[in-house]
Amino acid sequence: MNEDKLKKMIERMVRDAMAVNEANVKDPPIAGSADVRKPLHNFKMNINKEKMIAANWKMNMTTGEARVFAAKVKSMNIDRKEVVIFPPIYLAPMMINALAGSGIRIGAQNMHHEIRGAFTSEISPLMVKDAGCEFVILGHSERRHIFNEKDHDINLKVISAINHGIVPILCVGETLDQREQNATFRIIRNQLRLGLNGTTPRQSTSLVVAYEPVWAIGTGRTATPEQARNVHSFIRETLTQIYDYSTARDILILYGGSVTPENTESLIKEKDIDGFLVGGASLSPDKFKRIIELC
Ligand code: PGA
Repeated sequence: MNEDKLKKMIERMVRDAMAVNEANVKDPPIAGSADVRKPLHNFKMNINKEKMIAANWKMNMTTGEARVFAAKVKSMNIDRKEVVIFPPIYLAPMMINALAGSGIRIGAQNMHHEIRGAFTSEISPLMVKDAGCEFVILGHSERRHIFNEKDHDINLKVISAINHGIVPILCVGETLDQREQNATFRIIRNQLRLGLNGTTPRQSTSLVVAYEPVWAIGTGRTATPEQARNVHSFIRETLTQIYDYSTARDILILYGGSVTPENTESLIKEKDIDGFLVGGASLSPDKFKRIIELC
């Protein structure tokens, strides 16, 4: 096949894939199971804080290391800030104990949307709650890109989390290629519309969104305050279209991607940046504490 033909074929495939995505947005929600779509509980998680700082530990930390970390952050004054740590799930009960009285809360890094079943190695919303987690990260770029999670899978999880009284942090973000092709806004809008498909404004009072440009995660390359501001305000606008103005205004929008104590101040000043989802730097109690202090 000559190069021209190949290029045309790829372009057609990309167009088709996008058409499927757009079609999904318009379609009524597809029920994964009866449990996922059952009526909403009378639930409103108390996230009235002005700023939120979340630590995504990923596949790091053992019991001993986590205990040392907890001892170092426990006495912090976190005041008007929501601080949530997302350890590997098996450490959650120990962390809750170790942080008792500190106001710091614990979340899960992922979950399955079903409540139980033959899904080897997965963890259900019931288990997430049973472990004491109040939040769950969904649609993280590592889940999307390494584990091939699609917007539809993420949407089922978002609905399931809300229905079980767990606050989802829905992660969205473009790859470097997508940014260079000026596709950032389209990608973010699709991820939001598909990920939040079928949710109501009332449900969204228990929702957090994280903008994590894929090219900034774990690379040491942070979005500039201006780049982050533009996307955050676009996210706010899109949430206004999905829900309404007052609902969108109350949803916390976090920035994630190589956040460090050095770039915290310049980013947190921006209007629509309500906090951070911190990976690498959250493994150091000193750096994490400093980021919290600067917010
Ligand atoms: P990073 O990770 O801070 O190490 O870039 C952020 C994240 O993946 O949530």
